[in-house]
Amino acid sequence: MQARGPLMVEHRLIERMLGLIKVALAEIRLSGKVDPVFVDTAVDFIRMYADRTHHGKEEDILFRELKKRDISADDRRIMNELIEEHKFGRKTTKALVDANTRYRNGDKTALAVISSSLQTLVEFYPVHIVKEDKVFFPASRTYFTDEEDQAMLAEFMEFDRMMIHEKYKSLVESLEKPK
Ligand SMILES: [Fe+2]
Ligand SMILES: [Fe+2]
Repeated sequence: MQARGPLMVEHRLIERMLGLIKVALAEIRLSGKVDPVFVDTAVDFIRMYADRTHHGKEEDILFRELKKRDISADDRRIMNELIEEHKFGRKTTKALVDANTRYRNGDKTALAVISSSLQTLVEFYPVHIVKEDKVFFPASRTYFTDEEDQAMLAEFMEFDRMMIHEKYKSLVESLEKPK
């Protein structure tokens, strides 16, 4: 398997979650309300899986290696766009979390922000994924030898292995913090 293999497999699971969010959006439109627990679950997926685990491997390993190489101006431009899109995803998720808290506390006007944030995520994310799968990943591959690509794959695996430990260590640390 090439290094981009696990990244593309992760894209497929992200797409499935986006499908579930689309269903939730249709339900919000019909009922005029949202299940805040579904929003929590979607946020956990986006933050832990799509951002920390998936974007983590892209930014901390693949992009880090590409930054050391003399890549074309076009590829550098696309990489910078992808980094900005990751930031945009985080900002949208933060707005979603804040609106979900307000909604839980009885502020019904927060529903509009929840809907628009979810809508933004389902619209922008597939475009980001296509850009990586069809354009950026194939272009990136040309800057690495087979050995270098396999070394990145090994680093991806190690990165994933650490994720579960990082998640629950930070959970315990946050619970230990005095209130
Ligand atoms: Fe990405
Ligand atoms: Fe990606």
